[in-house]
Amino acid sequence: MSAAALEIHISPDVLDAAMIADVRTGLSASPKSMPPKYFYDAHGSDLFEQITRLPEYYPTRTEKAILAANADEIAAATSMATLIELGSGSSEKTRLLLEAGLRAGTLHTYVPQDVSVTALQQAVDELGVEYPGLEVAGIVSDFTDTTASIPQRPQRTVAFLGGTLGNLIPAQRAPFLAGIAAALRPGEHLLIGVGLVIDPAVLVPAYDDAAGVTAAFNRNVLSVLNHRFGADFDPSGFDHVAVWDAENEWIEMRLRARHAMTVAVNDLDLTVSFEAAEEMLTEISAKFRRSGITEELTAAGFDVQRIWSDADDRFAVVLAERR
Ligand code: AVJ
Repeated sequence: MSAAALEIHISPDVLDAAMIADVRTGLSASPKSMPPKYFYDAHGSDLFEQITRLPEYYPTRTEKAILAANADEIAAATSMATLIELGSGSSEKTRLLLEAGLRAGTLHTYVPQDVSVTALQQAVDELGVEYPGLEVAGIVSDFTDTTASIPQRPQRTVAFLGGTLGNLIPAQRAPFLAGIAAALRPGEHLLIGVGLVIDPAVLVPAYDDAAGVTAAFNRNVLSVLNHRFGADFDPSGFDHVAVWDAENEWIEMRLRARHAMTVAVNDLDLTVSFEAAEEMLTEISAKFRRSGITEELTAAGFDVQRIWSDADDRFAVVLAERR
């Protein structure tokens, strides 16, 4: 039997209202900022897929290799009956976990969660065909809404891969991890992928590649604002900036105005001025140490059971059990 379905826990009106508030706040703040979740319209998602294949961008292929080498051990340690993947996107790396869970004979349901209906519908349709024995039940929601994103199911493992935890600021991370813990029962698991603190000489080029794909991805957020809110940003008037903040141990992506300019965000009746060389923060991508991620997970209500990493110690996959 095969079953593939999609549940929608988010209304377009609520999404729009939240985005309007975020855009107003971010463009009025000093320094200006924009939440990274707005990179991912169809073009932005396509640019991100291209980033994952760049020679400089090591995280995706490194995490995939870690999962490939350890998927059977993960399946055995979790006895997962339900795999819930937050921010699943195209569910690319998940196949490794699904196949291990099916081999172990414990897995019967996969719950991919994403904010994009189109990405999710495609993944749900494909996986339903590829794994006829598996129930696939997609959820459209914002992953920070842990109540909507983590449904009641038997023996759950929540996977949050790709290093996306690092895109949340520390003040957002604690309530998010505590929310996952609150949604789970003792003995259920969280599997989380995080980038490790490494040499900035390797790290910075991963966010500032020679081909300029990351620069295009960063500037695309301005096109998103143009399309969604009738703004008149000239993306080519901004330089892509990626800097390593050694104190906070995160990469910052910014857009730097090449000259003074005034931008109209017509649908929001908002006029925004940039000084020459003014920078808008568009993303932080925090990198972790084993001690730091262990502390954060412990504080949220988890026991860290295993940390797998690659030979160069660039990326880690952490398995934690709800206490
Ligand atoms: C969404 C966490 C996978 O922070 O590395 C890639 C997004 N930003 N290049 C990251 C991103 C710039 C990415 N993740």
